[in-house]
Amino acid sequence: MASTARRLEGKVAIITGGASGVGESTAKLFAEHGAKIVIADIQDQLGQAVCEAIGLSNSIYVHCDVSNEEDVSNVVDIAVATYGKLDIMFNNAATLDPYKPRIIDNEKTDFERVLSVNVTGVFLGMKHAARVMVPARAGSIITMASDASKIAGVASHAYTCSKHAANGLTKNLAVELGQFSIRVNCLSAYAMATPMATSFMGVDAESIEKMANSNANLKGVTLKTDDVAKAALFLASDEAKYISGHNLFIDGGFAIVNPSLNFFQYPKSL
Ligand SMILES: NC(=O)c1ccc[n+]([C@@H]2O[C@H](COP(=O)([O-])OP(=O)(O)OC[C@H]3O[C@@H](n4cnc5c(N)ncnc54)[C@H](O)[C@@H]3O)[C@@H](O)[C@H]2O)c1
Repeated sequence: MASTARRLEGKVAIITGGASGVGESTAKLFAEHGAKIVIADIQDQLGQAVCEAIGLSNSIYVHCDVSNEEDVSNVVDIAVATYGKLDIMFNNAATLDPYKPRIIDNEKTDFERVLSVNVTGVFLGMKHAARVMVPARAGSIITMASDASKIAGVASHAYTCSKHAANGLTKNLAVELGQFSIRVNCLSAYAMATPMATSFMGVDAESIEKMANSNANLKGVTLKTDDVAKAALFLASDEAKYISGHNLFIDGGFAIVNPSLNFFQYPKSL
């Protein structure tokens, strides 16, 4: 049965931002499905702890600031030196700027910091993954975008710009690398109660989920990092062998609806 089989047996994956949140869930799920895991992050203790939870025989932690080309090149080289190849690159690491709703209050330094991690970091992950995947004529490159890759007004200018760029890079690279049988996709999620969200909002996980659920299109369920990990697993696996250039939304339809005008308001009695 496809649902119980190990869907990444023998594959090697780098997961940036794998020390926490979506990256941590994905690292654990990929490992359960037989992949060797390289966690690339700047939170060394947390990253090491995730590897210990997964098992040190099939995972390693490498300190890597994704905005630094030497670090990204190094993590790709370590993956290949340790496990012999690279099949999956998950560009998941990202950062946020402080909440300042008026553009005139936004600092250039914050804007550039967000772009250096969320855009340059993705570009570097793609570049160095391609360096080893092109000669192998195989690979799956996945980037973590967001609903802010499509819709406006749900995040800062820097973050929205960076996630639109992640989708743009995904599409452009899917065209370049198609000739080498390498697939390039991104994932766009709705809000989840990860450390990024709780520290940005300054509230606990429960409050984030409550707020997310009340604004959601799909009711009665709460988006968890595991749900994103499962979508990443699909794109990483051979089940997605003909899917490339795609932005897969894990958002319960949030990005397709304008809630300011809802034609489908049922009477309260139903
Ligand atoms: N939480 C949400 O609501 C939400 C929604 C949509 C998309 N996303 C995206 O999901 C991805 C994962 O975020 P998360 O919510 O799991 O947050 P998180 O804070 O739990 O994880 C982010 C990880 O990225 C790492 N990181 C940050 N800067 C880095 C750098 N320069 N180099 C290497 N690693 C770095 C952090 O140390 C952390 O481990 C991000 O791309 C984020 O934009 C999150």
